[in-house]
Amino acid sequence: MAEQDKKIVVSGIRSTGNLHLGNYLGALSKFVRMQDDYDCRYFIADLHALTTHPDPKQMQENVKSILAEYLAAGLDPEKNTIFVQSDVPEVSEMYLLLNMHAGIGELMRTASFKDKARKALGIATEGDDIEKEIIGNNTNRSVNAGLLTYPVLMAVDILIQRANLVPVGKDQEQHLELTRRFARRFNSFYGVDYFSEPVNFNFGANAVKVPGLDGSGKMGKSEGNCIYLIDDEKTLRKKVMRAVTDEGPKEPNQTPSQPVENLFTLMELVSEPDVVAHYRNAYADCSIRYGDLKKQLAEDILKMTLPIRERILDIRGNDQYLSKVVAQGAEKAREYASATLRDVREIMGIKKL
Ligand code: TYM
Repeated sequence: MAEQDKKIVVSGIRSTGNLHLGNYLGALSKFVRMQDDYDCRYFIADLHALTTHPDPKQMQENVKSILAEYLAAGLDPEKNTIFVQSDVPEVSEMYLLLNMHAGIGELMRTASFKDKARKALGIATEGDDIEKEIIGNNTNRSVNAGLLTYPVLMAVDILIQRANLVPVGKDQEQHLELTRRFARRFNSFYGVDYFSEPVNFNFGANAVKVPGLDGSGKMGKSEGNCIYLIDDEKTLRKKVMRAVTDEGPKEPNQTPSQPVENLFTLMELVSEPDVVAHYRNAYADCSIRYGDLKKQLAEDILKMTLPIRERILDIRGNDQYLSKVVAQGAEKAREYASATLRDVREIMGIKKL
């Protein structure tokens, strides 16, 4: 297909530490599978990482490690535009412009904002009193305006590239819904048909939510329940063997408890279907031994992650190569972004005297 006829794909991952299995199965593995058929633009969201105030001395290292992980997972810089978000200053300007069309109320109702604000303020219970707590909070930095407007910046990443498809995990779908709403609102406010509405992409299947090993619903860095692509064999096996389970099925065809269902879900993502069927059947007839299931699961995860780990270690030290990849990517990303920004400024009436 001619380059200009290909659908545009945009996605990014925050540079807040090494990539885990959730990032890989929910996003990065899709990036790789899409690279031959679409016009793909993948970036490292270092500006988004700022909401939680990383150590400035660590910022660049964090970006480098995500970049090395992108490349090690199989992203080809010749097939994709790979760049760092902060290398595209047009994004920051458009973020300011789009903020004028984002409501504080809708941003405060976003699940990820509420969740992060609740954690930052040390509020354990779910409930809508969170708004009062935020307004009364005097420490200011933990629940900062950047955290609130995080989805606006994400919408800009997507809209500034005029993306059609955005491969992300399930946890990002609400942000994508907001992106579509902002696109519609912009079009209708200015009476234009400028932005199209981007959608998640998962090869026809539902978006993925990779569970944690601690029995919780989601694998995530802040949850401390992750398997990282960079984990060595021993560490990885140990993590899987320690995964939370229960005392075993008490009667045939019982519904598995959440922690055990999580292990099956993980298995469905990394193992062959007959392997999954074997353990599901063993659970159903009460003959299952969780130790065996975990050993198999660790084996199948390692099969997937170890080759990536080796390539990460290889690429990570090659500073010159890494710089070259993102310099080339930034140039292309800026070219696309500046064309959109020019249009958006004009649509909004910002013109030179
Ligand atoms: P981030 O950095 O939290 O996560 C990056 C990607 O990994 C996916 N992911 C998961 N998928 C399934 N199961 C999990 N347990 C899991 N944990 C993480 C996320 O869904 C995501 O796809 N806001 C974004 C970064 C971003 C972005 C964008 C994405 C900024 N601008 C524009 C797409 C387009 C984020 O925080 O992802």
